[in-house]
Amino acid sequence: MALRSLIAGTGGYLPARCLSNEALAEAYNLETTDEWIIERTGIRQRYLAAEGESTSDMATVAAREALAQAGLGIEAVDAIIVATATPDSAFPSTAVRVQQKLGMTHGFGFDLAAACTGFVYALGMGDSLIRSGQAKGVLVIGAEVFSRILDWTDRTTCVLFGDGAGAVLLVAGDVEADQGVLSTHLHADGRHGDILQVDGGAGTTGQNGLVRMAGREVFKHAVTKLASAVDEALTANGLGHGDVTWLVPHQANRRIIDGMGKKLGLSPEQVVVTVDRHANTSAASIPLALAEATRDGRIKKGDLVLMEAIGGGLTWGASLARF
Ligand code: ACO
Repeated sequence: MALRSLIAGTGGYLPARCLSNEALAEAYNLETTDEWIIERTGIRQRYLAAEGESTSDMATVAAREALAQAGLGIEAVDAIIVATATPDSAFPSTAVRVQQKLGMTHGFGFDLAAACTGFVYALGMGDSLIRSGQAKGVLVIGAEVFSRILDWTDRTTCVLFGDGAGAVLLVAGDVEADQGVLSTHLHADGRHGDILQVDGGAGTTGQNGLVRMAGREVFKHAVTKLASAVDEALTANGLGHGDVTWLVPHQANRRIIDGMGKKLGLSPEQVVVTVDRHANTSAASIPLALAEATRDGRIKKGDLVLMEAIGGGLTWGASLARF
């Protein structure tokens, strides 16, 4: 038997306002088409936060669903980690705002910045807190209002992203070693920071910056770096492609997702895809996809789930978990 982080519950939240590609192009006067966006990215629509709707508001709803699914209350939570590139403010952290909104006065919380890889990083940190005995229950949340850091005149970026939040509740369990989060493998290479960045912030310009991306460059890195992270995770656990029940990838681009599914020899049905409906919700995309696929009964107890992501930094990583 071994101390492991079990995924006790998942939750997700999408804002009410949904915009199709056509509606987006019209609303923001963009020179783009539904065909271009679908062909290059697979995105058909995205959800955008309402005025006044914050990252912590969305994260709190997702966290409540994860707790409800687990049948546990806030007393089961010792720590809250919110992966986000769009925190409510520099401080208090979004995680502490979530703590307050959940009615918790115990435990601790912090935000984690790793752009689109944020959830994989946060899952690794939450798992480490549990394995080291520092926490028995951790809410690991990815939440973003990317719509507030997009340049709505730049058609090469603003069509790609959406808002939302997802959460998982990790709880400590004394179980067989191949249960729960098996391992997480994290990487970063700051030399490539400029190809995907927010061009400002409190510590530089004093203004909120906006997302800038050299899409083609990022695409090239994504294909090789995700493949090596995935192999690293499987090899570390003595597992092969055939052992994976579900691939739950970061949802940036349908072409990257399909390519990874093929590389792993998975059938299209084994790959959880939300990018068509959610667009790229950055750190929220994997937990939102997990929430959807557990809610609809696809991911079941005992399934081996492979998660991978790449994002600004560059940061990238992969994690394996048995539900
Ligand atoms: N509508 C119409 N035309 C467009 C649009 C648009 N929305 N955007 C760009 N174009 C044009 C370009 O101007 C260019 O025109 P040109 O040939 O006349 O110069 C042409 O379409 C091709 O542009 P590319 O950028 O080369 O298109 P590409 O096929 O590379 O697709 C995309 C762009 C979708 C961004 C792709 O490169 C991609 O998905 N990259 C990876 C993104 C990613 O994985 N990000 C990681 C996570 S994000 C995060 O961490 C924040």
